[in-house]
Amino acid sequence: MLKKARRLDSKGDYRLIEESDFSQFKPKAFDLVLSAFTFDNIPTMKKKVMALNGIRNLLKAQGRMVNLVSSPEIYTHEWASFSTKDFPENKYAKSGDAVRIIQTDTADKRPVVDILWTHEYYLETYKKAGLVIVETYKPLAKPREPYRWINETRIAPWTIHVLRSG
Ligand SMILES: C[S@@+](CC[C@H](N)C(=O)[O-])C[C@H]1O[C@@H](n2cnc3c(N)ncnc32)[C@H](O)[C@@H]1O
Repeated sequence: MLKKARRLDSKGDYRLIEESDFSQFKPKAFDLVLSAFTFDNIPTMKKKVMALNGIRNLLKAQGRMVNLVSSPEIYTHEWASFSTKDFPENKYAKSGDAVRIIQTDTADKRPVVDILWTHEYYLETYKKAGLVIVETYKPLAKPREPYRWINETRIAPWTIHVLRSG
């Protein structure tokens, strides 16, 4: 993945770090940290808090973390490019449980296993990590867009939390 990224963007700085070990970065030096879907796959409260604590420590005083995560609803509905109808058990999942979802627009139709994490659990997780939510976005698709949206215009499959150090 890193090789591919460097090939596409030779000026970028791509690094692999050990889990939650941010020691190679200068503390309190970053304006923005973006995490896209990573926390859907970090399994426990302890591990999530460890990673978020490390990220909080990287932020400047006015710095922000943008955490893009899956909404619990994604695992119980159908979408233009995701399907969950084969996994009715997702409906009974609680925070910390495995949930399955198939990406329909790729060749590999094996289900992806994510970890369900409700909004209430995210609130507790951020609190434990010393982070405060500045904004929460649940963006919806627009009906006039040229895509065959299924539920995207009424349910947000993803949630975006903008966070600051508390
Ligand atoms: C759904 S993928 C998202 C990948 C990419 N950010 C994107 O948007 O396409 C989740 C990523 O989280 C990574 N991941 C899983 N556990 C992690 C952990 N404990 N710390 C950091 N990354 C982790 C996985 O390797 C995987 O690349």
